[in-house]
Amino acid sequence: MADAAPITTQSLLRMKADGEKIAVVTSYDASFTSLLEDAGVEVLLVGDSLGMVVQGHDSTLPVTLDDMIYHSACVARAAKRALQVVDMPFMTYATVAQALDSAARMMREGGAHMLKLEGGELIYETVAALTQRGIPVCGHLGLTPQSVHQFGGYRVQGRDDDAATQLLDEALGLEQAGALLLVLECVPAALAKQVSERLHIPVIGIGAGVDCDGQVLVLYDLLGITPGKRPKFSHNFLEAEEDIPAALKAYVEAVKAKRFPASEHTLA
Ligand code: KIV
Repeated sequence: MADAAPITTQSLLRMKADGEKIAVVTSYDASFTSLLEDAGVEVLLVGDSLGMVVQGHDSTLPVTLDDMIYHSACVARAAKRALQVVDMPFMTYATVAQALDSAARMMREGGAHMLKLEGGELIYETVAALTQRGIPVCGHLGLTPQSVHQFGGYRVQGRDDDAATQLLDEALGLEQAGALLLVLECVPAALAKQVSERLHIPVIGIGAGVDCDGQVLVLYDLLGITPGKRPKFSHNFLEAEEDIPAALKAYVEAVKAKRFPASEHTLA
């Protein structure tokens, strides 16, 4: 698998046009990166979820730019084929100037191919500034974990009509600003379906139903090793498999065959 042609932003657009589901998993180190590529994962997300599953914090807020660059560089050393998307951590893109400085380090020192930013209208200008300078951007709407204290907890977003309309408008706005990929986290499946149908760019869901153009899971959730309660939308793929490589392959196959997420992982 690692010898196949590299995945680019263009490959992802083609996959959406062809109706082929995109398999995304978070990765934070070199060893798992090789296993994930062998399993056929197209996009590796160096997520700031590492603040919780690797560093043991209770949110993603303490994660720094240096932390993200360190883990991104670990992933980049092992990655041969997948597109490497890296999270811009909390308050490292609060102004356009700060975002450009942070992004330059993520691309130069961390080997990122694309940067993920949380937020809607407030970041259109930043998304445009990055993409106009050749830095591909992935948006992130719905439950954006860097705003957990604003939301008052990890809650489903976009449930009422006004919130759903706003989310759809902001998804279209991010695409218009130049984003080439969008993550939708914890939103009702019907809304995620509507967003995926309206956007030309691929929409990757987590807790957003099976009708997105692809799925992402946190690696440690997928392997059932995250301490505490399992999120309803995740699934332990190791439970039914012999070892980690088999579990990763089972996840990719389930995403491609639209068997994951099933109804029990889907939020109304
Ligand atoms: O940080 C992360 O792992 C993420 C995913 C949950 C989408 O943003």
